[in-house]
Amino acid sequence: VVYVLRLGHRPQRDKRVTTHVALTARALGARGIAIWRPDAGIEESVRKATQSFGGDFEVRSLKEWRPFLKGWSGPRVHLTMYGLPLEEGMEALKQLVSEGGPGESGSQEPLVVVGAEKVPPFVFQTCEVNLSAGNQPHSEVAALALFLDRYFEGRAHHRNFADARLRITPSAKGKRVEDRKDVGTH
Ligand SMILES: C[S@@+](CC[C@H](N)C(=O)[O-])C[C@H]1O[C@@H](n2cnc3c(N)ncnc32)[C@H](O)[C@@H]1O
Repeated sequence: VVYVLRLGHRPQRDKRVTTHVALTARALGARGIAIWRPDAGIEESVRKATQSFGGDFEVRSLKEWRPFLKGWSGPRVHLTMYGLPLEEGMEALKQLVSEGGPGESGSQEPLVVVGAEKVPPFVFQTCEVNLSAGNQPHSEVAALALFLDRYFEGRAHHRNFADARLRITPSAKGKRVEDRKDVGTH
C-alpha cells in the first residue's frame, strides 16, 4: 500500500495540521504514518478515530527520522512544490513500484514524505522522486490528498472499514450514523 512520513512536526504549533495529515492518510488509503517529532497526543487522537471508524491504521512517533527514511526498502517520494509535476512524478514512482524498491528486501510499498518547517536537503537527495502538486506553496494536507487520490487513481476516498463501530450512511440532508456497539472494541 502506502506509508506516510510526517517530518518537522512542532508539538507547540502543528498539532492540528499533523492530526489532519494523519486522518487524511488514513481516510485516503495509507497503511500508517510515522511522525517526527514525537507527539503522544496525536498518536492518541488518531487511534481514537480508528477505534470509532475502523481499520488498522498504524501511527507511530520517531525519535530519529533519518535512519527510518534511509532504511525504507520501497521507493521514497517527497511532496514538495519544487518537485516534478504530479503526472510526471507519479509515472516515475509507479515505474519504481512495479520494479520493486531500491532496498535489499525490494519492497514495493512507497513512503510518502511531507514536511512542516523547511525540509533539509537530505530528504530531496534520499527520496527517489520529488513530486509537486503544482509549483505554488500550499499545505501538506492538500498535497497528500492530491497525491493519494492520484496514486489510487481516483478511488482513494472509496474506503470501507470492515470493523467500524460508527458507520455513516451517505445522505443528501442531515447526518445518518449507525452505531454498531457490538462490533469489536479494539
Ligand atoms: C506549509 S509547507 C512548508 C514549506 C516550507 N516553508 C519550505 O520552505 O519547505 C509544508 C509542506 O507542504 C507540502 N507542500 C506544500 N506545497 C506543496 C506543493 N505545491 N506540492 C507538494 N507539496 C507541497 C510539502 O511537503 C511541505 O514540506
